[in-house]
Amino acid sequence: MPLSIIILAAGQGTRMKSKRPKVVHPVAGRPMLQHVVDTSLLLEPDQVLVVVGYESGQIRESMKGQGLGFVEQAQQLGTGHALAQCLDHLNEGNDVLVLNGDGPLVRVETLQDLLGHASGSSVCILSFLPEDPDGYGRIQRNDEAKVIAIVEQKDASAEQKKIRESYSGIVFIEGSKLRFLVEKLNNNNAQSEYYLTDVVKHAVTEGLDVSATICADAEEVRGINNQTQLAEVERIYRRRLAGELMQQGVKLYDPVRVDIRGKLQAGCDVEIDINCVFEGDVKLGDNVRIGANCVIRNSSIGANSVILPMTTIDGAIIGRQVSIGPYARIRPGTECDDGVKIGNFVETKKAKIGTGSKVSHLSYIGDTDMGSDVNVGAGTITCNYDGVNKSKTIIEDQVFIGSGTQLVAPVTIAKGTTIGAGSTITRDTPADKLTLTRSKQVSLDSWKKPTRKK
Ligand code: UD1
Ligand code: CA
Repeated sequence: MPLSIIILAAGQGTRMKSKRPKVVHPVAGRPMLQHVVDTSLLLEPDQVLVVVGYESGQIRESMKGQGLGFVEQAQQLGTGHALAQCLDHLNEGNDVLVLNGDGPLVRVETLQDLLGHASGSSVCILSFLPEDPDGYGRIQRNDEAKVIAIVEQKDASAEQKKIRESYSGIVFIEGSKLRFLVEKLNNNNAQSEYYLTDVVKHAVTEGLDVSATICADAEEVRGINNQTQLAEVERIYRRRLAGELMQQGVKLYDPVRVDIRGKLQAGCDVEIDINCVFEGDVKLGDNVRIGANCVIRNSSIGANSVILPMTTIDGAIIGRQVSIGPYARIRPGTECDDGVKIGNFVETKKAKIGTGSKVSHLSYIGDTDMGSDVNVGAGTITCNYDGVNKSKTIIEDQVFIGSGTQLVAPVTIAKGTTIGAGSTITRDTPADKLTLTRSKQVSLDSWKKPTRKK
């Protein structure tokens, strides 16, 4: 049977003590629900339904354009009630896999494994063995170790609370039995909620086959109910990504001190020093070295390039053999060709910097097209903004700009120009000439050192 996936995400998540719906709280920079959706889509299901309720607009907005179906659960009367809302939206006869929107760590392999085990069962649950089962539904088994019920924490007797095996929130239900089982749910329990977990006991009573598979990695199915668990999941996720990178051969100076909030692709022999943050899509070529405390977002860095400590790079394309930093700020629209050097306290924005060019110290280069083999002296500023409009600076090949120069855009510095230090350039320069704007240096004989007034 084709598969429909239902993701439960209608609850507020009261225990988060937040006005935002729980499932939009980010894990590694993306809504926790997005992680569940991404994993779901890897199964290539026939249909994905997300049950929304509390602040559903926010959730729909953050999940749009992914072909998801949304089912409104106006009042959150329990996970079973949430499932019931889907009955009329499911593609007829499809088998159903239910996932919790607050469990972002689950791996596709685990779901595939569950679906494999589920064949022949009407209900197949994914259980796990947490260190501390407090808060989870407990798996009740009979003397033959067959699953007979899931008992929610609040309904559990002291004896049942001692059971360690817990329900992950993930369950497979055979399509042909779904409506029958869901219609049996009631809210006669400690929380007066319709518990999805009760499908197990109803299936058992009806003589249907119920099975369970235990998730070997208890961390994968952790639910997030409060800020502490959110932080723990974040840490686990970070460690997982760090582990994957090291598997691929990346050298992490300390896997605990790296944050990946998005996708990081790395080539061979990449080295990453401590406290670096990677956001969005980042690509690092072979032999790239990233110094300590760098933040790199939506950028690619070519082979053999070195990013020195305390540098931020955002929305940039960096070529090969480039050196950037320490303390550089590379802003969106920066493109550095091969062999470029950007030194300390340099800011670039919408700047193309040609092969082998150097901007070594204390400069601002914005809205600029720079050719190759240019040398920009310390403290050079492109004055790209007149208070209203932005204008462009063009610096052609082999230009040498003396220190402390202002280039007032729009302006073109022709090929081979040398600009004398301390110049304010407002007009285009001719090629291969020394151009400077400097008043004559004078020393005044009449000048006297000021004395303190009495
Ligand atoms: C649920 C399970 C519990 C399991 C745990 C795993 C039930 C009754 N209990 O408990 O056995 O161990 O997950 O993490 O299912 N939701 C709705 N509509 C509702 C209520 C909840 O969509 O009316 C959604 C929530 O947004 C959340 C998910 O269902 O994403 C789970 O709800 P939550 O309240 O967190 O259930 P738990 O108490 O954690
Ligand atoms: Ca939960």
